Amino acid sequence: MHDFVYKNNELYCEDVAVRAIAQRVGTPFYLYSSNTLLNHIRAFKNAFNGAPHLICYALKANPNGTVLRLLGREGAGADIVSGGDLFRALRAGIDPGKIVYAGVGKRRDEIEYALKMSILMFNVESGEELLAIDRAAGEMRCKAPIALRVNPDIDPRTHAYISTGMKENKFGIPFEQALEYYQTAKDLPNVEVVGVHQHIGSQITEVRPFVDALGKLLGFVRNLRAAGIEIKYLNIGGGLGITYKDETPPNPQELADAIRPLLEQAGCTLILEPGRAITGNAGILVTRALYHKKTKDKNFLIVDAGMNDLIRPSLYEAYHEIKPVIETDSDDHEAFDVVGPICESGDFFAKNRRLAAVNQGDLLAIMGAGAYGFSMSSNYNSRPRVAEVMVKGSEFFTIRERENYDELIRGEKVPRWLD
Ligand code: LLP
Repeated sequence: MHDFVYKNNELYCEDVAVRAIAQRVGTPFYLYSSNTLLNHIRAFKNAFNGAPHLICYALKANPNGTVLRLLGREGAGADIVSGGDLFRALRAGIDPGKIVYAGVGKRRDEIEYALKMSILMFNVESGEELLAIDRAAGEMRCKAPIALRVNPDIDPRTHAYISTGMKENKFGIPFEQALEYYQTAKDLPNVEVVGVHQHIGSQITEVRPFVDALGKLLGFVRNLRAAGIEIKYLNIGGGLGITYKDETPPNPQELADAIRPLLEQAGCTLILEPGRAITGNAGILVTRALYHKKTKDKNFLIVDAGMNDLIRPSLYEAYHEIKPVIETDSDDHEAFDVVGPICESGDFFAKNRRLAAVNQGDLLAIMGAGAYGFSMSSNYNSRPRVAEVMVKGSEFFTIRERENYDELIRGEKVPRWLD
């Protein structure tokens, strides 16, 4: 559910007309509903209410400071994957005691930063990383709380690029070797084993892979206990999918209903790392139609947003619904390739999509763009990153200014020999 709805044929975000925002901030821009974000985080909280748990929002989906602040105020912690993520989470007031840190390539300076800030735990992805964390903690005279990320080799039945828990993926420690790694960790002087972590993939639309992966993980926790290794936190990662087209993913309650009975025997605090399920449907990308171009074979609609603003269609052939900001009653539908201005044939938002007649200058909403939208955007083709706007009730706020040309070259230096 989300708060982008038509009122008198005009698209609104909560109580604000999208067209009014476009007039003020220009296009393209990302638009988020604070109410949808709140509903999504509360759905997770309610679903797991009564069971010891911590929701660590995955910053990578959308790390905007206002989004983080809003979720943090609801009690969310953070799943981070870099020093930059840590900086953002702390800046937004998220308690370091609720921050978990994953990623296969943590640098020494990032490890030190996280140790200094006393995060809840590192989700360790390899034996060498484990030793590096132990060394860093030793030199800093502290103990590093850790979980090992295990790779359960479970097919999450999603796009290959966003499946992470299969043995051919680079993530985590192979299941068969995990016990051995835990034994090593237990004997290291400067790490403290506190948990076990897994994340099997993203945009998962069935409960089954979660249940299977959790079952496997619980079996593993029993083996750990038998080996004298106690686990306080069981982190099952993120991955809950959303509806982009006609998917019917489980909602947080359905996920909770399926896994809570399994968890009860474990006696651990559950950690979840949802990203997309929180922000995905809470945001849209608003763009303006620039030109039509009809060829013998194709009917292109060229818009002012590009793959640098939202790369998901280009990268994963992801489907995003495209809606007119002002609906017309015309029955005149045409199939378009909706494309951006970038100099790449892969720069498209939709192929052969049937849309009601679009005129030059019309506004369009690319739906489901709140997760992995702005966060994966770039300056390719020297395009300033777009503005981000959040609606609360009948008001809207720019929560990130559109970049200007000076910002495009910020940090560039001309060597003296070319002065
Ligand atoms: N935890 C870990 C360790 C992760 O690697 C991820 C996502 C999450 C949590 C959050 O997953 P979510 O709940 O959002 O599915 N760019 C891709 C998605 C990449 C996901 C990477 N890891 C996309 O646009 O679909």
